[in-house]
Amino acid sequence: MESNQTILITGGAGFIGSHVVRLFVTKYPNYQIVNLDKLTYAGNLENLTDIEKSPNYTFEHGDITDAIYIDSLFKKYDFDGVIHLAAESHVDRSITNPMEFVMTNVIGTANLLNAAKTAWDCSMKTPDRNGEKRFYHVSTDEVYGELHNPDEFFLETTSYDPRSPYSASKASSDHFVRAYYNTYKLPVVISNCSNNYGPNHFPEKLIPLMINNIMHNRPLPVYGKGENVRDWLFVKDHARAIDEIYHNGRNGETYNIGGFNEWKNIDLVHLLCKIMDEKLDRPEGTSVKLITYVTDRAGHDLRYAIDANKLMKELGWEPSLQFEEGLTQTVEWYLANKEWLQNVTSGDYTKYYDKMYK
Ligand code: NAD
Ligand code: DAU
Repeated sequence: MESNQTILITGGAGFIGSHVVRLFVTKYPNYQIVNLDKLTYAGNLENLTDIEKSPNYTFEHGDITDAIYIDSLFKKYDFDGVIHLAAESHVDRSITNPMEFVMTNVIGTANLLNAAKTAWDCSMKTPDRNGEKRFYHVSTDEVYGELHNPDEFFLETTSYDPRSPYSASKASSDHFVRAYYNTYKLPVVISNCSNNYGPNHFPEKLIPLMINNIMHNRPLPVYGKGENVRDWLFVKDHARAIDEIYHNGRNGETYNIGGFNEWKNIDLVHLLCKIMDEKLDRPEGTSVKLITYVTDRAGHDLRYAIDANKLMKELGWEPSLQFEEGLTQTVEWYLANKEWLQNVTSGDYTKYYDKMYK
C-alpha cells in the first residue's frame, strides 16, 4: 500500500470512530484522512476538537445510505482505503426501530462496497491490482450469537447466529463484504470486536449510562438479574488493533478482537460504584444502593467471549490495559468532561431515556 494514502473513515464522529480518526491523523501525518459522518444522535464533532484543524484531516457531512452521494465522494477523492465504522450501534434501539438498522448497516455498507468496486475497477480479471487497495469493515462479536458453556469462545470460524435486529444487520453486512471479496476480488478485511468502553462513549450504553446516573444519584437500571456476561476492551486498544489489521491483515480474512476480560453485568456495576464512590468522595456503599433491577431486554444474549489468539499470534497485538485501570481512566474522563456529558444528554436524550426506562 502507498505511504501517502487517502483513507475514508466512516462514522468517525462516533465513539470508536473518533478514536480511530485521532490515531490515524496523529500517527500518520502523510495520510489524508477523510471522515464521513451523518452526525446522527451518536455522532459528535466535539469528540474531535483537538485534531479538527490538522492539515491531513477533512470532515464530510453525509449519509452512507445515499448511493449517489457515496459515488460522488469516491469521484471527489481518490481513496486508497476505507475503514468503515458508520452504523446504528445500540441493540435496544434496534429492538424499537429495526428498519433504521437495515438501512444504515446493510444498505449503507452495500453502497460503500459498490462505490469502492467501481472506483477501484475491481474484478476477477485484475486480482493483483486489487491488492493495492483495502476495504476494512468493522464488525461485532454479536454476529456469533450467544454462548452458554463457560469453556466456549467465539472463534473466526464460529458459525453466524445473530439474534437481535442489530446483530442480524451487522451479520448481513459482513456477508456482503465477503461476497464482494469472493465475487469481485474487492480487497477486504473484517474484524469482529467485543464490547468497547472508554472516553466519548454515548451514555445509552451500560458503562457511560451507569456513570452518568451515579453522578446524578439516579437509579441504576440492571436488566433481568444482571447475570449476562460481556467481554470488555478499552476503546484505544480497539483502535490500535484496527491500525494493525488495516496495515498488516491479510485480504479476505477475519480477525476477532477482544479483551479476555469477561464480567457479569452486576459485578461490573458493583465495581463501577466502588470506583465512583472513591472519586466522588462518597462513603463506600453509597452508589450500590442505586441499583434497580428492571425488565430484561427482549432476546437478551447471555454471554459473549472472544478468542483473539489469531490477531495476537499473527499481528502481535494485545490489550494494553487491565480493566480496573481502564475503568478508572474512563470514570476520570467523564468527571473531567461534564460539559460533554451535559451536551449529549440534553434534548432528545431525555425523551429516549424516559421511553426506555420510565
Ligand atoms: P456509535 O453509535 O458511537 O457511532 C456511529 C457513528 O456512525 C456516529 O458518528 C453516527 O453519526 C454515524 N452514522 C450512523 N448512521 C450513519 C449514516 N447513515 N451515514 C453516515 N454516518 C452514520 O458506534 P460505535 O460504538 O462507535 O461503533 C462503531 C462501529 O463499531 C459500528 O460499526 C459497530 O457495529 C462496531 N462495534 C462497536 C462495538 C462497541 O462496543 N461499541 C463493538 C464492536 C463493534
Ligand atoms: O459486543 C459488542 C457490542 O457491544 C457492540 O457491537 C454494540 O454496538 C454495543 O452496543 C455493545 O452491545 P451490548 O448490548 O452488549 O452493550 P450495552 O452497553 O447496551 O449492554 C451491555 C450489557 O448491559 C448487556 O448485557 C445489557 C446490559 N444493560 C444495558 C443497559 C443499557 C443493562 O443491564 N442496563 C442498561 O441500562
